[in-house]
Amino acid sequence: MSDLVTVETSEGVRTIRWNRPQKKNALLREMYTAAAEAIETGEADKDVRVFVLGGQPGLFTAGNDLVDFMEAPPHFGGTVTPPVERFMRALMNAQKPVIAEVDGLAIGIGTTLLMHCDLAWASENAVFKTPFVDLALAPEFASSLLFPTRLGRAAASDLLMLGSVWDAARAKEAGLITGIFPSASLANEVREKALALAAKSPGAVRKAKALMMTAEEPVMDRMKREGSIFTEMLHSPEFAEAVGAFMERRAPDFSKFG
Ligand code: COA
Repeated sequence: MSDLVTVETSEGVRTIRWNRPQKKNALLREMYTAAAEAIETGEADKDVRVFVLGGQPGLFTAGNDLVDFMEAPPHFGGTVTPPVERFMRALMNAQKPVIAEVDGLAIGIGTTLLMHCDLAWASENAVFKTPFVDLALAPEFASSLLFPTRLGRAAASDLLMLGSVWDAARAKEAGLITGIFPSASLANEVREKALALAAKSPGAVRKAKALMMTAEEPVMDRMKREGSIFTEMLHSPEFAEAVGAFMERRAPDFSKFG
């Protein structure tokens, strides 16, 4: 495991942190590989319930390392999956929830990846920017689809064409992030959220995520899809635990479920 990415797992929360502050957490191939492995192994580990993706105090990431880009440009669509794509695929395919913790710079892929996280909290110091056009590059990892769909065309163009700098308030207003905490308490606040998610029924959390990630479909089709899952879950031991806990006036214990 690279020292440039730290991975810690405790109480069901796997926290993955970019750790290259001397280069503003600019992301190298080995960092993507390490983060991809942390997600992939966490997906297979029943003791991991939630991922947190963060950086260092005051620094999320300055985006892809531009020197690395020049030295070893990723070849998308080739026979070998580039590390950045492996990481993004791991993030996009994660069935367990991923929370982004953004303090300071979130440039390039640091902003793109937020569209693939379930929840994102930022500090008031956060800076969001996708300077792909400024670098004579193109939007990446489906941001040209997801930004307009989720943020609206005008806001998406502000980011993806103009390369505007957004602060946390703008990002919150646009729906790019869930909320804002003071920098000093951001990590603790995010951990509280992660622990709360980790304590919930893992099956129910995964189903809610999967449904929200299912491609758009007619409302009646979605209702039917939810209905069949709901019916199945009414017979699950996790539902029995939730109802049992309610009846016994205690907190539910989902720790034995994977
Ligand atoms: N790739 C490679 N190195 C980077 C980097 C990046 N994306 N971002 C920062 N660095 C390096 C700088 O080269 C510098 O290295 P040095 O100390 O060896 O000279 C170090 O990190 C500190 O950066 P610096 O520019 O001095 O800090 P700053 O606070 O003045 O500015 C940024 C920070 C992030 C605004 C600025 O570095 C920047 O614009 N970086 C490029 C962002 C970018 O275009 N990312 C790619 C998107 S696809």
